[in-house]
Amino acid sequence: MKTTQTAVLVKPDGLQRGLIGEIISRFERKGLKLIGLKMINMNDEQLSDWYSEHKDKSFFGDLKSFMGSMPIVCMVWEGIDAVPVVRKLVGTTLGREAEAGSIRGDFGMSQQFNLIHASANGDDAQREIRIVFDDNELFKYHSVREVVVYADYELSSLK
Ligand code: CMP
Repeated sequence: MKTTQTAVLVKPDGLQRGLIGEIISRFERKGLKLIGLKMINMNDEQLSDWYSEHKDKSFFGDLKSFMGSMPIVCMVWEGIDAVPVVRKLVGTTLGREAEAGSIRGDFGMSQQFNLIHASANGDDAQREIRIVFDDNELFKYHSVREVVVYADYELSSLK
């Protein structure tokens, strides 16, 4: 299970709240590396794939129509343990209970309007990335910050 790459969506409420820059900035300041970024309208097939684990839940239809109602911003972030690191920065699902200091804890009150999606584990991350990004939309590049974000012995786990 690869946990060095993770998928993030800024949901319609995050777009409308004007939080895209704030969200990107939090991941950048943490030391994560942005390797993919696009704004799309997710179609029904993409949404059914993305939320397949919720297909039998009562809110599945509402969730898909909300997520398909306007453009969303999709990102791939890379770093050591990026999946759990991003989950922690995002906070728990219900905004009004999410930890202060997390994105949902600082900006959210709702369960459905919880601003942002972050992959739950490495397998989900790879599946979700493939739903939105082609290989040529994911970038490999040298980040000059890496040598101050990580010690030498840690950098090898990112290769
Ligand atoms: P997320 O964890 O990103 O992915 C599943 C989403 O379903 C979750 O965020 C919420 O936005 C949404 N969700 C969870 N529970 C409910 C609910 N009871 N009603 C509507 N939406 C929900």
